[in-house]
Amino acid sequence: MAPPWPYPRLIGHRGGGTLAPENTLAGLRLARRYGYTGVEFDVMLSGDGTPVLIHDDTLERTTDGHGRVVDRSDAELARLDAGSWHGPAYAGEPLPTFAQAGELCRVLGLWANVEIKPAPGHEAETGRRAALLARELWQGADLAPLLSSFSPVALAAAAQAAPQLPRGLLCGPVPDTWHADVQRLGCFSLHCDFRHVTPRLVDEAARRGVPLVCYTVNDPDEARRLLGLGVAAVITDRLDLLAPHGL
Ligand code: G3P
Ligand code: MG
Repeated sequence: MAPPWPYPRLIGHRGGGTLAPENTLAGLRLARRYGYTGVEFDVMLSGDGTPVLIHDDTLERTTDGHGRVVDRSDAELARLDAGSWHGPAYAGEPLPTFAQAGELCRVLGLWANVEIKPAPGHEAETGRRAALLARELWQGADLAPLLSSFSPVALAAAAQAAPQLPRGLLCGPVPDTWHADVQRLGCFSLHCDFRHVTPRLVDEAARRGVPLVCYTVNDPDEARRLLGLGVAAVITDRLDLLAPHGL
C-alpha cells in the first residue's frame, strides 16, 4: 500500500517550471494560474544571511548580476533583474526573498516543497535559517511546507531548528543506503531523479512507508506511469503539459 501523502501530486519545479523565470514570484503566480496547488523552489542565503530564492551559487545564469550569492548584500540582490534572461515579458522581475515567496504562497494557497540549497560551506546555517523562517511563514497553515535538500548537514540543522516541519532527502541516483539515511535524518520522504525510479524502489519505499517524489518529469505519459507505479508526487518544468486535473 502507498504511504500517506497529504500534499499535491503535481508540483511546479522552481515555481513555474520553464514557463516563467525560475524561483520568482511571477513563476509562483503562473503555477497558480495553471491550477497547480504545489510548487518547489530553491532557497540559499544572501551575504547578509537572508534566505532568498535562487538555484545557482552564482548570479550570472538567472540574473543581471555577477559573482556569488553569498558575497552580495540584501540591498544588492534586491536591485537585480531575475527575469530578463527568460524573455522580455519578465524584464525587471525581482529576485525574491524566501519571506516574500512564502507570503505569496500563503495568499495564493500554494503548498511548498522548499529545497534548501546551501552554498558550499554554508550548509548548517542555510538549513537552520530556512527552517526557522519556513516555520514562521507557514504558522497556522493546514499543510506545513516540506523541506528537502541534497545536503545531509542542512537537513540535520533544519531538523534541530524546526523539528516539527517534515523533511525530504534529495538524491540523484538512489544510494543503497537510502533508507538508513532517511531514518538517520528523520526524513519523511525520498526525492530522486525520475530516471532512477524502478518498480523495485517504489515497492521498497512503500514497504518502508516512505513517500517517493520524482523530479523532473515533463512528459505526461511518464508522469502517469510513475504515479500509477505508486510514486507519491512528480515535480515538473512543463506545467502546461501536466495538468493537475487531467492526469
Ligand atoms: O527538488 C527537486 C529538484 O529541484 C532538485 O534539483 O537542481 O533542480 O534543484 P534542482
Ligand atoms: Mg530544486
